[in-house]
Amino acid sequence: MTYKAHNKRYEKLNYRRCGNSGLLLPPITLGLWHNFGGKNNMLNESKKMLFRAFDRGVTHFDLANNYGPPYGSAEKNFGKVMKSDLRSYRDELIISTKAGYDMWPGPYGEWGSKKYLIASLDQSLKRMQLNYVDIFYSHRFDPLTPLEETADALAQAVNQGKALYVGISSYSSKQTIIMNKLLKQRGIRCLIHQPSYSMINRWIEKDLLQTLKKLKIGCIAFSPLAQGMLSNKYIKEIPKKSRISDNSSLDLKMITKTYIKKIKNLNRLAKKRDQTLPQMALAWVLRHPIMTSALIGARTIKQLDDCLDSQNNLEFTKYELKEIDKYAINEKINLWENSSKY
Ligand SMILES: NC(=O)c1ccc[n+]([C@@H]2O[C@H](COP(=O)([O-])OP(=O)(O)OC[C@H]3O[C@@H](n4cnc5c(N)ncnc54)[C@H](OP(=O)(O)O)[C@@H]3O)[C@@H](O)[C@H]2O)c1
Repeated sequence: MTYKAHNKRYEKLNYRRCGNSGLLLPPITLGLWHNFGGKNNMLNESKKMLFRAFDRGVTHFDLANNYGPPYGSAEKNFGKVMKSDLRSYRDELIISTKAGYDMWPGPYGEWGSKKYLIASLDQSLKRMQLNYVDIFYSHRFDPLTPLEETADALAQAVNQGKALYVGISSYSSKQTIIMNKLLKQRGIRCLIHQPSYSMINRWIEKDLLQTLKKLKIGCIAFSPLAQGMLSNKYIKEIPKKSRISDNSSLDLKMITKTYIKKIKNLNRLAKKRDQTLPQMALAWVLRHPIMTSALIGARTIKQLDDCLDSQNNLEFTKYELKEIDKYAINEKINLWENSSKY
């Protein structure tokens, strides 16, 4: 039976304006980096997660060319659901994709050249069975390609109607300022920046947030749960069904004694607020007025629901923030820092 969206889906979330653009985004966005790739995933929980998210007001789904594994399979699976169930809701959805990391072999399969970005976007559109994406990102800063060329590619994507808006991901404050100017010169808005950000990965507080505020660019924080580390799942043991057990982007080495101590304390503070730790972590990311959305991943509908329930308590007292600051200290978990060191 074809999916029919919940008729009260827009009564649940407070949508936030993306910078000074006309675009509103949900405070929680669902990303398809993990749990949506492969052959069979879309037949079960993952497909249901997309529906559940949309039923609860999540209008934004975030992808990239190489999400899987294998590369491309998350987009392909998403495309199948687009065709079978979501086609009639296309105008209610914000779908983003990116190119920048390795996608296919040879010199034209990664980084920031026009050759790669344009070819990759064409491939993404085919896999997702879409005529256009809402947001196309330069996935990482390329120190060897002139930024003018990457800006040219992003502008071409918009001018050819293949993307409505463009964004950048994991660019430093300095390169964000330059890219914003280059896009402006081409008559294009830099809509949004997508950096990693969480209670234990706070690099954007140094200067990027201020820059985005000044330039009126939106901000969508990825891995706001530090890939699941901001939950109590790793306190006692490594659960069988978890990102660490999957041997993917989280490393057992990241589960240190200091980390466990922080999590225990943050858990205690979350309990006092009547929240789970993931809920408090999401509310905390969204405390910045310029934060447009927190970009989560989820393995199960239960996790997704838990994350969305963060919206029931978004307020923090000054005292709570001070207490959180005692434990919300960087761990060595920022896998994307190379991109933002320039
Ligand atoms: N631009 C970039 O370079 C970049 C890089 C990375 C990610 N992203 C985007 O950001 C999205 C989110 O990244 P992410 O998946 O790392 O985000 P995340 O929300 O920090 O981590 C998601 C993981 O946290 C755990 N989790 C989620 N909700 C939970 C809950 N309520 N209770 C307990 N555990 C919970 C699950 O781990 P288990 O699977 O272990 O259960 C889940 O897979 C991606 O899908 C992608 O769209 C972008």
